Amino acid sequence: MARKFFVGGNWKCNGTTEEVKKIVTTLNEAEVPSEEIVEVVVSPPFVFLPLVKSLLRSDFHVSAQNCWVRKGGAFTGEISAEMLVNLGIPWVILGHSERRLILIEANEFVGDKVAYALSQGLKVIACVGETLEQRESGSTMAIVSAQTKEIADRVSNWANVVIAYEPVWAIGTGKVATPAQAQEVHAELRKWLHGNVGAEVAATTRIIYGGSVNGGNCKELAAQPDVDGFLVGGASLKAEFIDIIKSATVKKSD
Ligand code: PGA
Repeated sequence: MARKFFVGGNWKCNGTTEEVKKIVTTLNEAEVPSEEIVEVVVSPPFVFLPLVKSLLRSDFHVSAQNCWVRKGGAFTGEISAEMLVNLGIPWVILGHSERRLILIEANEFVGDKVAYALSQGLKVIACVGETLEQRESGSTMAIVSAQTKEIADRVSNWANVVIAYEPVWAIGTGKVATPAQAQEVHAELRKWLHGNVGAEVAATTRIIYGGSVNGGNCKELAAQPDVDGFLVGGASLKAEFIDIIKSATVKKSD
């Protein structure tokens, strides 16, 4: 089974109501490959989710950027998976490096979040990735597989999981991984899934790349055999996000 190209736009903690409406208008007017070729998901801050959901074209979908690790209750400031489901939000990003590193979310905690979100019926973009220090010390795969293991230990059905490989040194830095660097980790990660989860999960789970993807570098990255799409930060707030969506067509000519 071919892996459908996936392009996620992570808006992070950005935007006003007016700016959000403008981005959605740009997306709605864009001509992009059909849903059979590319799955597009945008992730606004929580407070804009209902607005974006109500305005966004029906072939694009919305995602939250985080959710609480278990059932809601007395957890001030948190948003539960149940609430997202109640609002009709199909996706959630979990384990983004900004949360792992700034808010000190441990691998086990992220694994628990992924498992709980899936149990409630959400689809999950689960992020993994190494810091520059870790890359330079040669521990990239040890880090990425340890992060993935805490998810794999808790998840039995991978149909609703997309893994985002996002090297921390490439996020928001303008320093994109080379296509070869991305391909190498994606292939290793797929090999890890093959050995630790199973052949089918390895073959069908989408592994997308994130970190300074833009309209100029997306095609070369998309051409890598184990790069199944992107998670885009900065460029997802701009019109070039459309070009990134269109890079899905690179796969068709395979
Ligand atoms: P960036 O962010 O594209 O701005 O580097 C990617 C991400 O954090 O998902």
